[in-house]
Amino acid sequence: EKSGERNNNMMSGMMGNEQNLDLKPSKQSERQLLIPPVLETSSQNEEEITYDIVAREGEFQIKDGEKTETLGYNGEFLGPVLRMKKGQKVTINTTNQLASRTSFHWHGLKIPSDVDGGPHQTIESGEKKSVTFEVKQEASTLWFHPHPEGETASQVYKGLAGLMYVEDENSKSLNLPENYGIDDIPLIVQDKSFKADNQIDYENDYNSDGTQGDTLLTNGTINPYVEVNNRWMRYRIVSGSNSRTFTFSLDSNEPFYQVATDGGFLNTPVKLNSLTLSPGERAEILVDTKKYNNGDTIKLLANDSVALNMRIRGRKTDTTFIPSKKLNDINTIDEKSLEGLNRQIINLKGMSHMVNINNKQFDMNRIDLYKKLNEQEIWEVNNYSSMMGEMAHPFHIHGVQFQIISRNGKQPRSNENGWKDTVLVNPEERVELLVRFDHAGTFMYHCHILEHEEYGMMGQMEVR
Ligand code: C2O
Ligand code: CU
Ligand code: CU
Repeated sequence: EKSGERNNNMMSGMMGNEQNLDLKPSKQSERQLLIPPVLETSSQNEEEITYDIVAREGEFQIKDGEKTETLGYNGEFLGPVLRMKKGQKVTINTTNQLASRTSFHWHGLKIPSDVDGGPHQTIESGEKKSVTFEVKQEASTLWFHPHPEGETASQVYKGLAGLMYVEDENSKSLNLPENYGIDDIPLIVQDKSFKADNQIDYENDYNSDGTQGDTLLTNGTINPYVEVNNRWMRYRIVSGSNSRTFTFSLDSNEPFYQVATDGGFLNTPVKLNSLTLSPGERAEILVDTKKYNNGDTIKLLANDSVALNMRIRGRKTDTTFIPSKKLNDINTIDEKSLEGLNRQIINLKGMSHMVNINNKQFDMNRIDLYKKLNEQEIWEVNNYSSMMGEMAHPFHIHGVQFQIISRNGKQPRSNENGWKDTVLVNPEERVELLVRFDHAGTFMYHCHILEHEEYGMMGQMEVR
């Protein structure tokens, strides 16, 4: 199944001031892939864990020559990995050392809204705030990023993005590759542009329909390589651009296996030749490098640019992964169970400064939807073209993990039959979601093209 194909050129043919900037082939020599550090805990036992995170300004050697002024969590650029276990009580002490306000949003965590880090929980420059929550969801790869109204897009673009790994009994028992940085590697894939002096100039490169860059970075590394044994490699991909959607493939055209979606493992691995991820989405994939020889290079491509060079170095006997393995136990949706559920219509409309949801633009002081705690609903997300043109919107809901019921009345692709918090809705598409509200409070739902989110393609629901 070529799941990526139909989205491949979804950005083309749009109107408005959409730029559809091509990614430049890198002229930089290969650099070793940066592996985000695993954050040390300030205190930890089986039940409780505490982390300290500082958002700060930095300077980072991204390109040859001048260093680039960046933003980072606990470091110069991007952020560390926070590990947490299902059932654990997690405290995160956050500090804002930026010149402007920020917030710490835990994208994908099913937690109450007062600790979710959305636009209502901003932290002023120089201030600190602590959040405590219990991890009540299954093993998954999540991420965190800022979410202050009006400054989300620029802060993410300049480098604020970190990772959260949730572990549970199941993930430990699956015998998947799990040696961090060796055979289990995160890949935060983003595009950015650099001026002649190597600086990022968000304000100048800004595009109201989604800022794009001409340079591909993986974990902040341009043209990265990693040395791997020939074995099964596990990559946890975070699609972390402001607006660019990526279709991943191997240059050999060999298939790989997707084992996890945004919110956890798929029931069984799905064999793919390409995989499309829009901003905010994650996937874990397994790549078989066993048949390659010492010195071979396999390339992971993102839209035909090189996201990663895998250089084969040495053998390793590997008994980890079996493609037929059962990984999870997610209930498949049966039509009967949907009968009688409330249907929430979400219409994504407009382009540029006119983007809206259900004909309304975001207002901090307005609640758009009221939802009942512990209830299930069908969300029908429509993306029908208007006079202004059309583009795909990655639709994200805070505080939940949902299932995709259908795309235009048809079954979703097999690699979408897992927990999701973000879903790409293509032009002329109607996507039905099965959503359940497990936490009380006020939660955002929005387009994850960050410039659309900031222009008002966001709403708030109160769950009570
Ligand atoms: Cu990843 Cu509301 O955000
Ligand atoms: Cu989120
Ligand atoms: Cu959008």
